[in-house]
Amino acid sequence: LDESVIEAIIQAMGRHGVVSFPNQRLTPVQQRDFSARFGELEINVANSYQEPGIPQMMILSNIVENGKPIGISDAGQDWHTDMTYNRVPGFVNVLVAHKVPMRDGKPLGGTAFTNTQAAYDDLPSDVKTRLTNATALHDHNQFQELMRSKGSTRPAQTEAQKRSRPPVSHPVFLTHPISGRKVIYVNPGFTARINELSPEESDATLKMLYAHVMQPKYAYTHHWSVGDVLLWDHLGTWHCALADYAPNEYRLMKRCQVMADKVFDPAFLQEKLRVVA
Ligand code: SIN
Repeated sequence: LDESVIEAIIQAMGRHGVVSFPNQRLTPVQQRDFSARFGELEINVANSYQEPGIPQMMILSNIVENGKPIGISDAGQDWHTDMTYNRVPGFVNVLVAHKVPMRDGKPLGGTAFTNTQAAYDDLPSDVKTRLTNATALHDHNQFQELMRSKGSTRPAQTEAQKRSRPPVSHPVFLTHPISGRKVIYVNPGFTARINELSPEESDATLKMLYAHVMQPKYAYTHHWSVGDVLLWDHLGTWHCALADYAPNEYRLMKRCQVMADKVFDPAFLQEKLRVVA
């Protein structure tokens, strides 16, 4: 694809949050190469369920072959924004549907989204003022532990894995690098606390922000078809994979995650790297 097409897709993501390309037939290499046009690709901290030969691609699936799961079976099954726990935040998720569970002719295993740009716009002005310079801490291990508390069989992170992803801070209200609008950049999956508030105030404020973002008026659910290539903007959305299908109703997705190294102002990225250095 020509660079102007990639730029048009980036603009569409900044404006709409989620962009769908139905009925594609991408090989894993094509998916990786397409994803890499948007920025650096992440290699997941778990280092498991990677597409053979493509460490930047993760297999999400409930399929078990020869007694072994072929992918992570419960990826993203609660509200979160990927990679807010990275110094340079995540930008795009490129998810391709290979198998979609169906029941009574209807697709299951959809992905729900909320729009945190629209949610920011509607916040009361006193909340915007109070939190204008606030920052929040994001911890990769928090979502892992949340899933384990819900019965996930994913293993606890090792100390080495935790050290490789120490918690990081980002503004509570981030300026979106594409749209220029503010977004509410905290999420239930990874945000541990608001740094400038007491623990009690932080908990109450996060609870209030989460209830605000979760209003149905900001929501969209994508109901998958095989061949869909879905791109979403992590900076302006939250998402949640809907676990409404049974173990014998098979879902198979392949995922590449893109970092926001290309789309942010270099000064912003310098600051991120300097703070941690
Ligand atoms: C994810 O959170 O990346 C997975 C989303 C999905 O499988 O629907």
